[in-house]
Amino acid sequence: MVKIAPSILSADFTRLGAEIDSIREGQADWLHFDVMDGLFVPNLSIGLPVLASVRKYTDMFLDVHLMIREPLRYVGRFCDAGADLVCIHQEADTEENIRAALREVRSRGKQAGLALKPDTTWDAALPFIEDTDLILVMTVEPGFGGQKFMPQVLPKLGMLRQTLDEFGLECLLEVDGGINPLTASLAAAAGAQVLVAGSDVFGAQDRKARIARLRGDAGQTAEGEA
Ligand code: DX5
Ligand code: ZN
Repeated sequence: MVKIAPSILSADFTRLGAEIDSIREGQADWLHFDVMDGLFVPNLSIGLPVLASVRKYTDMFLDVHLMIREPLRYVGRFCDAGADLVCIHQEADTEENIRAALREVRSRGKQAGLALKPDTTWDAALPFIEDTDLILVMTVEPGFGGQKFMPQVLPKLGMLRQTLDEFGLECLLEVDGGINPLTASLAAAAGAQVLVAGSDVFGAQDRKARIARLRGDAGQTAEGEA
């Protein structure tokens, strides 16, 4: 069954504790935490102090997505602030530094993720595959919630799925951006195992029903095609 990871970027930050409770009670699997530096992406969001507070508040699995340049500078601090998984972008630094950042995350006992922007080809992940627990395929340009899913990214997801299966690799596939019940089913059918959803979940009154719908619709299509 797919995992659902609501992104708190779309939450009401004045009531963050209650927002987290609503997705926890709504049976979300992970909490997705978007960090932006205003350089790698044209937007700023939340960072270390908020992560540390969230860590104290909940035992949910914290999936931290760093949309920052030269992430090697910060991955250790995000691990220490309570991330369970730290995901960095392939495009954010040199191959050597990206590898070092992934290894730094793992050396602290956390899971390491590698994110790919929509225009980055699937094979850009290959040099890092042994240092990576999860590949995050962006289905919008990173930087903002509430954008439209880019269906042209689906073949990339399929190529990664095929490659991971062929080599018997455990690495998870996650998608992020524009996920709703329809696009969730497309992404799951293409091989995604973790679905990030911001506006779709936090825009709904009944989070539990919405999360179930995302998971159910995605599950149905994936099983139907199996
Ligand atoms: C975008 C972020 C996403 C965003 C998703 O840069 O990485 O996690 O919050 O939001 P929706 O689901 O609204 O596209
Ligand atoms: Zn994200």
